[in-house]
Amino acid sequence: MTKRFSIPVGITATGQHFPEKIVTNNYFAEYLDTSDEWITERTGIKERRWVTQGEASSDLGAKALQMALERRGIRPDDIDAIIVCTVTPDMPFPSTASIIQHKIGASNVFCYDLNAACSSFLYGLTTGASLVASGAIKRVAVVGCDVMSILADKNDRNNVVLFGDGAGAVIVEQVDEGYGIQDFEHRTDGAGGNSLYMLGGGSLNPATHDTVDKKMHYLYQNGKEVFKYAVKGMSEISRLMIDRNQIDPKELKLFVPHQANLRIIDAAAKRLEIPQERIAINITRFANTTSATIPTALHQALEKGMLSKGDITLFAAFGAGFSWGATLLRWGY
Ligand code: UT7
Repeated sequence: MTKRFSIPVGITATGQHFPEKIVTNNYFAEYLDTSDEWITERTGIKERRWVTQGEASSDLGAKALQMALERRGIRPDDIDAIIVCTVTPDMPFPSTASIIQHKIGASNVFCYDLNAACSSFLYGLTTGASLVASGAIKRVAVVGCDVMSILADKNDRNNVVLFGDGAGAVIVEQVDEGYGIQDFEHRTDGAGGNSLYMLGGGSLNPATHDTVDKKMHYLYQNGKEVFKYAVKGMSEISRLMIDRNQIDPKELKLFVPHQANLRIIDAAAKRLEIPQERIAINITRFANTTSATIPTALHQALEKGMLSKGDITLFAAFGAGFSWGATLLRWGY
């Protein structure tokens, strides 16, 4: 049975923000045993943006949200809630959402952070849409912002080349009948927790000199394992959306996948028979920005005119947890 809201809810505006500093593959080739060729061939990534000291997730998220508000033609006071999806909050507390609230000057909101790793944005979109569908509130801002450059050991060639920093934001509210979110599905399997994790800094291993010496505040992953499950998870849950809603894949105007590796995207798209020109791709220029991949890829696809009112679009994500999900929308503006 489809999971559709009792009132039509959709995205009515998007925004994005990236730090100015561009880090090319050749930067790593200068001090690590790697090359532009290896990174391009194995991941599709050519460059990424990294913050400079003092620039945090909230700075990126606030700017992306300001852009989305401007595009929608509304003021910060016109939103009722801010959900910030991130694995790299400015600090454990207060929430990055409350820091963004203060930065943009939104005075009628409640705010919280949500962490489902690379699936965070889709979980956040469903959560925000559910609040609107409840009828209790009118407009929610869902922001995906991450500073992934802080999680990778700069001397670990396996991980440091994969990640970038950035933010995307969307405004979620009621749309015309027949438009907006048509269906969604999310899954979590904690058995995958030992394939992608950061051990230090939480309640299990609070930060000490020892945890820092052991590099426990960096991300670790079994790349091959994650790759395999990402292709399987994203393609199977996307297929479920397509079949359950009796969509002919040819009707699908745009596929917006999480951007972790171009080979993962290509393999999932091949299984789903989605042609290359209908896939939103921004990993080449921005690498894996975790919570920001889907809203920024969507924003850029809209800028390129890849999506118009009435088009069917499918978002799909996979990340640590394992967590994964897909959301099917009929574009509403
Ligand atoms: O959103 C977060 C979720 N993460 C993901 O979705 C990541 C999923 N996994 C992947 O994208 C890929 O598995 C990676 C890009 C991480 C690795 O690609 P791979 O084709 O699976 O390579 P591999 O792990 O099998 O490594 C092959 C070789 C290894 O050398 P040895 O052991 O065969 O001598 C690696 O050490 O490639 C080496 N390698 C590199 N070589 C040059 C790993 N990273 C690099 C590098 N430059 N940057």
